[in-house]
Amino acid sequence: MVSTTRVNDYHEQGRLGVAVFASGTGTNLQALIDAQAASDYQIVLVVTDKPGAMAIERARSAGISSLELSPKDFIDKAAYEAQILKELANYEIELVVLAGYMRIVGATLLQAYQGRMLNLHPSLLPAFQGIAAPQQAIDAGVKISGCSVHLVDEGLDTGPIIDQRAVPVYVTDDAASLQARIQQEEYKLLVEVVQAIAKEKIAVNGGNIK
Ligand code: GRF
Repeated sequence: MVSTTRVNDYHEQGRLGVAVFASGTGTNLQALIDAQAASDYQIVLVVTDKPGAMAIERARSAGISSLELSPKDFIDKAAYEAQILKELANYEIELVVLAGYMRIVGATLLQAYQGRMLNLHPSLLPAFQGIAAPQQAIDAGVKISGCSVHLVDEGLDTGPIIDQRAVPVYVTDDAASLQARIQQEEYKLLVEVVQAIAKEKIAVNGGNIK
């Protein structure tokens, strides 16, 4: 369901129009929302594959339009993504940020947003791709982990890395405590990267990072 009205006067203000995709709690979305007043991007749309997700409540509280679409209501992934794509075009979205979007992006969205879609991952990629990255780090016994922002490609957490932050891993850590430490860095990293792209300090168009 699409809610609230179109907001695209951000173009006139020279701001970068961003859509955030989230499946869960959306604390990274919140970090982007909290920082945007002092930034050069504007979150124009929040998309979820999990109707009722906490991320949608955060969008509503901030007056941001939201799109809640359950993939099971579509015949296939291409149809699901085509509907999302239509809305991204309606809102003139320039950059897509996957922040806790627990779904592999398919060809429909990838082709349209090649080089303009970021993902946030809770490890120092290329280590520990896929789910439960903090647990993977604990299991491997690494002493340093962290978070990465990378461009999305057809793989799982494999696209070109844009930036990373490291955190220590303590012997007393479990997956939850490590994840909590990583998330504190994620909030800063994600805001910094999106702002740098908005300010054109990082050019990611076409998948080339400069
Ligand atoms: C983050 O840790 C991110 O790295 C991972 O999913 C988590 C989302 O957390 N991809 P939240 O929904 O932003 O709180």
